[in-house]
Amino acid sequence: MTEYSFLNEPEKPTVISKQFPGEKSAKNLQRLDKIQDTRSVVFVQDLDGSIGNYIKDIDGNLLLDVYCQISSIAVGYNNPRLTELAKSDKWVKAAINRPCLGVFPCEDWAETLESAFLRVAPKGLNQVFTATCGSTSNEIAFKACFMHQQLLKRGGSKDFTNEELTSCMVNEVPGSPNWCILSFKSAFHGRTLGTLSTTRSKPIHKVDIPSFHWPVAPFPSLKYPLEENIQYNLEEEKRCLLEFERIIKTWETPIAAIIVEPIQGEGGDNHASPQFFTELRRITRESNILMIVDEVQTGVATTGKFWAHEHWNLSTPPDFVTFSKKMQSGGVYHNLSTRAPHPYRNFNTWMGDPIRGYQAQFIVSEILDNNLTQLATTVGEYLKAELMKISASYPDLVANVRGQGTFMAFDSVDTATRDKIISLMRLNGLQQRVNMGGSGVKSVRLRPMLIFGLKHAKIFVEALQLVCKNY
Ligand SMILES: Cc1ncc(COP(=O)(O)O)c(C=O)c1O
Repeated sequence: MTEYSFLNEPEKPTVISKQFPGEKSAKNLQRLDKIQDTRSVVFVQDLDGSIGNYIKDIDGNLLLDVYCQISSIAVGYNNPRLTELAKSDKWVKAAINRPCLGVFPCEDWAETLESAFLRVAPKGLNQVFTATCGSTSNEIAFKACFMHQQLLKRGGSKDFTNEELTSCMVNEVPGSPNWCILSFKSAFHGRTLGTLSTTRSKPIHKVDIPSFHWPVAPFPSLKYPLEENIQYNLEEEKRCLLEFERIIKTWETPIAAIIVEPIQGEGGDNHASPQFFTELRRITRESNILMIVDEVQTGVATTGKFWAHEHWNLSTPPDFVTFSKKMQSGGVYHNLSTRAPHPYRNFNTWMGDPIRGYQAQFIVSEILDNNLTQLATTVGEYLKAELMKISASYPDLVANVRGQGTFMAFDSVDTATRDKIISLMRLNGLQQRVNMGGSGVKSVRLRPMLIFGLKHAKIFVEALQLVCKNY
């Protein structure tokens, strides 16, 4: 198939520095660190010099990027067509006169929502609420679930009692009811106060922060490759589903909704089968529990479908699908029945950003016009086959290869080995020059852009082979 052509994308990476961060980055960071914590920084990016699939730092190192701003770049750094669009009057005006979309939407906002978001809306969902990031998208979905459940409890009435209106002002029942959201072991749904109660990936995200007492259900811990462990995995999913059903029947407070990722992205790239998710949907429907599918990381074509949950072939759509990252705008898809019963209840100052809408419009068009979903499938198949070969030779370094499309991962034997592989891939000593990231305890995750073609995948594979050989 034809690959996405990107004028003046370099042919290969070049690395000058002997370590990361390089000299200039380190100097820049000294200044930054006086004002802001820099302990998580890898290097300082050269925004102007980064191009296509290649990220450049201010030391002049040019790396093939398969991490892509934590999985959030869709169609290349400095995409020339996007650069041109961003210079248009429409973009400039929206940038310098940012509207509050809930009260003073700009004239083309409806058109933007239609062509950017509704054009690729998950089947069965026809409303969209835009937001700033993944965490806020999930917060919005949570609030919508609580309001909807309360509406149903009142038999559809939109009237509140006086007791509800006074008790909510002191955070007491019945005005502040005890609904909860169930999430799964190792899940990641954000770091804001509400979403953090559903995040379960790492203690460091949660420790010291007050949290809602909300239930957690086991997420299947499958064996890979999936094709070779069918019976074991079936049993494991059955065990999790039984436990899920037990929890929703016995939890001390009513469960308004569950939230689940199609592949647990931060928690270690944990997969489950379409049957598992179909069962979750059946059980939630039978129990009057809403279902939120968090596609913040899995969404936007990377798994070989526009939305990863399309792989499940659900007969009833999820109630909410949240997105962000590659779409550039956060947001929530849902239906009219779950629109907040009163205005100003799911609301904030900006409620999204027209510029991010225009950007999403461009990204969606590029994906559909260039069949980038198919490219993710093709490149993903190649990557998986090559990773399996590497895994056969170096099982301590590369094991448990798994993925859908280019949303791919493997495990190393422990955290230290994983971290060393990531750092060796960046360095010059072995002529490696690939920027990658970890997930979970000992996994490496690949999150290339949607314009990552076979030629890029080959560079990546060669680099990994060399690192393993010389480890
Ligand atoms: C599945 C998932 N949900 C939610 C979030 C939170 O998104 P953000 O960091 O934009 O708030 C992330 C971020 O990595 C994520 O992977």
